[in-house]
Amino acid sequence: MNILVIGSGGREHALAWKLQQSPQAGKLYALPGNPGMAEIAECVPDIAASDHGAVVAFAKEKGVGLVVVGPEAPLADGLVDALADAGIKAFGPSRLAAEIEGSKAFSKDLMKKYNIPTAGYEVFNSADKALEYLKTANYPIVLKADGLALGKGVLICENKDEAFNGVKTIMEDKKFGSAGNTLVIEEFMTGPEVSVLCFCDGETIKPMTSAMDHKRAKDGDKGLNTGGMGNISPSPFYTKEIEDFCMENIYKPTMAAMKNEGRPFKGVLFVGLMLTPDGVKVLEYNARFGDPEAQVVLPRMKSDILDIMEACVEGRLNEVELEFEDNAAVCVVLASDGYPLDYDKGKEVTVKEGFGKNGLYLYHAGTKLVDGKVVTAGGRVFGVTATGKNLKEAREKAYKATELVEFENKYMRTDIGKKALEA
Ligand code: AMP
Ligand code: GLY
Repeated sequence: MNILVIGSGGREHALAWKLQQSPQAGKLYALPGNPGMAEIAECVPDIAASDHGAVVAFAKEKGVGLVVVGPEAPLADGLVDALADAGIKAFGPSRLAAEIEGSKAFSKDLMKKYNIPTAGYEVFNSADKALEYLKTANYPIVLKADGLALGKGVLICENKDEAFNGVKTIMEDKKFGSAGNTLVIEEFMTGPEVSVLCFCDGETIKPMTSAMDHKRAKDGDKGLNTGGMGNISPSPFYTKEIEDFCMENIYKPTMAAMKNEGRPFKGVLFVGLMLTPDGVKVLEYNARFGDPEAQVVLPRMKSDILDIMEACVEGRLNEVELEFEDNAAVCVVLASDGYPLDYDKGKEVTVKEGFGKNGLYLYHAGTKLVDGKVVTAGGRVFGVTATGKNLKEAREKAYKATELVEFENKYMRTDIGKKALEA
């Protein structure tokens, strides 16, 4: 079966790599793809994912049997709906279902309505009302731009001054664009965070193995929030007892809620959890694989992902088995120094021999080819992933492998997986 992957990041590279392992996989296309994906797929840089007509025409012309949509923007934009309308199988939620990520106000109201545990919150459409509320609120407090903001639209405010500035940043200066037209103000929670990606077919939900992101830019969870500087899988904090609780109180109820709202969820539902002193609560939902969660979860997946994805699209997920290796994986992101703010691009990259064997993977996230050479082209440049028999081994292997990749302003956190190992 020919397959088309939409996207150009490390997540999509990992997806393409995993799809290609399937014995049923035919030719692989990536739109637009990246230089790493180009080693296993034909890249299609000239069609924009937002041009639904062109994507549909391309998929028809190439006899594509399954389209896999990686990032949130094309999902929110209804690419899966356009493909489905044209009779092309597409893995991912519809535009309506993707709103579970695209609007934090929608997802918070959903959780409230269906009694799914989450932090207390209020929704505001006017800055004046938000400021009024903040005058008597408890601190710290969390401000969230309602819409999509590349994982950066969340501000944790220690006091009233910071919160007032935050309202200005989000609602008046529109730092995150129209995502800040509506503001969610949320109670501050504490505890370890766990990412659980779940396959869904609109009815059945099957969680994958857990992961743990490291969102802050600097060691010791300091610095700005980023898209994710590294990940480990599984999370030692996510016990069987917690998983069982989540299945009954979060995963199944979320599926039932979305169906009941006329937005059955198909694809991957990413549930961001916080294990608080008052129990497990949902931090957020995403309508897709995490990045870099995919880079640690997929290398541990035993099952044929193409089988699972087809089952999701066809509404028969209950018929397939989802299995993971009993090992661990660690992904360390190699970034351009300065990310998530300003950073230089166009630095030439050298990669030494060693990836693609012994459980070592190099996923391209922000690179491009210039005159036949790979150069840096983004904030997160590579994900270096290693698998090992346990977290300690995977972590040592991953950090050793980061030495195989060099570019001028290379930056990484040195403590990915450290807290988990100490736990
Ligand atoms: P989100 O995009 O909603 O996952 O938020 C990004 C990050 O901000 C999360 O991964 C948490 O680290 C932090 N965060 C979000 N909401 C809260 C909250 N209510 N309490 C504490 N931290 C939060
Ligand atoms: N790594 C977090 C995300 O993909 O949203």
